[in-house]
Amino acid sequence: MSIRLAEGESDQNFVRNLIRLAREAGELWAHSWPPHQVEGEIQDAELWILESDSGPDSSARRPAGFCFLRPPGSSWEITLVAIEPSARRRGGFFHLISELRQGVVSDRERSALSSILTLEVRQDNLTARRAYENAGFVVRGHRKSYFHDGQDAVLYELK
Ligand SMILES: CC(C)(COP(=O)(O)OP(=O)(O)OC[C@H]1O[C@@H](n2cnc3c(N)ncnc32)[C@H](O)[C@@H]1OP(=O)(O)O)[C@@H](O)C(=O)NCCC(=O)NCCS
Repeated sequence: MSIRLAEGESDQNFVRNLIRLAREAGELWAHSWPPHQVEGEIQDAELWILESDSGPDSSARRPAGFCFLRPPGSSWEITLVAIEPSARRRGGFFHLISELRQGVVSDRERSALSSILTLEVRQDNLTARRAYENAGFVVRGHRKSYFHDGQDAVLYELK
């Protein structure tokens, strides 16, 4: 697996489609990430693509997941991450985070403060929370009743 910045319309369509599928599967809350918000994030955030190695020929690589990354204010923030269902539980998220930290976070921004990577997630998204904790994220705080249905948001950071 490897990561790269998105390169054009086909990567963007991969992302739009994966978000739509995740919403339909109930993995993202119904009101999260409506199309206009997705389009805004495609414009405003960095879009990183995780590719799977489906063979020795690199042209056989195909997108397996993505994250939106906001460059630092006081931290780098992942605003959304998703891995394709067939590619999950193979360390894809873990790999994405490791490469981001080595290649993006540490090379491009060297101050200790902004090398922190943050994200937030619904308290009841236990699959995502396990993946985050497995990748080394620790809970930094909670936002009470942050979502419209009353769920808290859990804030994570990785130093
Ligand atoms: C959350 C999400 C990104 C995690 O992606 P992932 O690539 O499956 O994550 P990882 O493989 O790195 O880790 C997840 C689990 O796989 C396990 N795993 C990692 N490599 C593995 C392997 N080779 N074999 C078996 N299990 C493995 C990890 O230990 C972890 O297991 P655990 O949950 O039992 O602790 C993915 O489930 C997803 O896209 N969910 C829908 C969208 C979503 O909820 N996004 C977050 C909202 S912002």
